[in-house]
Amino acid sequence: MRFDLLTLHPELCLGPVSGSIIGRARAAGLLDVRVHDLRTWAEGRHKQADDAPYGGGSGMVMKVDVVDRGIAAVRQEGARVVLLDPVAPTFTQRDALRLARLSQLVLVCGHYEGVDARVREHLVDEALSIGDYVLTGGELAALVVLDAVARQVPGVLGNPDSLGVESFTPREDGRVLLEAPQYTRPREYRGWEVPDVLLSGHHGRVEAWRHEQALALTRRWRPDLLARPPEDPD
Ligand code: ADE
Repeated sequence: MRFDLLTLHPELCLGPVSGSIIGRARAAGLLDVRVHDLRTWAEGRHKQADDAPYGGGSGMVMKVDVVDRGIAAVRQEGARVVLLDPVAPTFTQRDALRLARLSQLVLVCGHYEGVDARVREHLVDEALSIGDYVLTGGELAALVVLDAVARQVPGVLGNPDSLGVESFTPREDGRVLLEAPQYTRPREYRGWEVPDVLLSGHHGRVEAWRHEQALALTRRWRPDLLARPPEDPD
């Protein structure tokens, strides 16, 4: 799968896509991640990619023509173009699963005080926020989306079982639960013990315990997930 990030700050994006699982998947040819400096498509001696807002006000607004040329230069057939914007629906695991089916995802990072509204209206397929807070720019948001989508691409996670029972992914019954806690050696540390059932070797009992724990954690930390109608595990 190909990802194109359009940004005024490529330096912010390069580290997170170079190491760990994403870096390894790129080296293996499973992911093609390209980070583009939007100034490439700015005109004039000063390569200006933003300008003062019409109607007055503080801050600079990203120019529609620059973003238009950037998208046109990178977009391939079958791509989806997403603007990262705090004024948008919140990105969820469901979106990650949906976007991971694409051949190309183009992520447009807004910066400064905003982006000319015509970008959202005419140039992108959708806009996504990563949560109810305002970041200094869309770069970190784009990297969050990229990471969550990329790990759903077949082969990116060495062990595909890791995608099986996961927080926020609908289970067989369509319910979304938080994942049960995990433990590893040592069996006891400073008097803190690993639950006996995990050492029982009894697969059925372990699974039942995990399900109970998942329910209890969800009730405690995210009761809103239990109140939702079951999701289609498509
Ligand atoms: N840009 C600034 N804040 C953002 C957010 N919360 N989500 C997506 N893009 C953003």
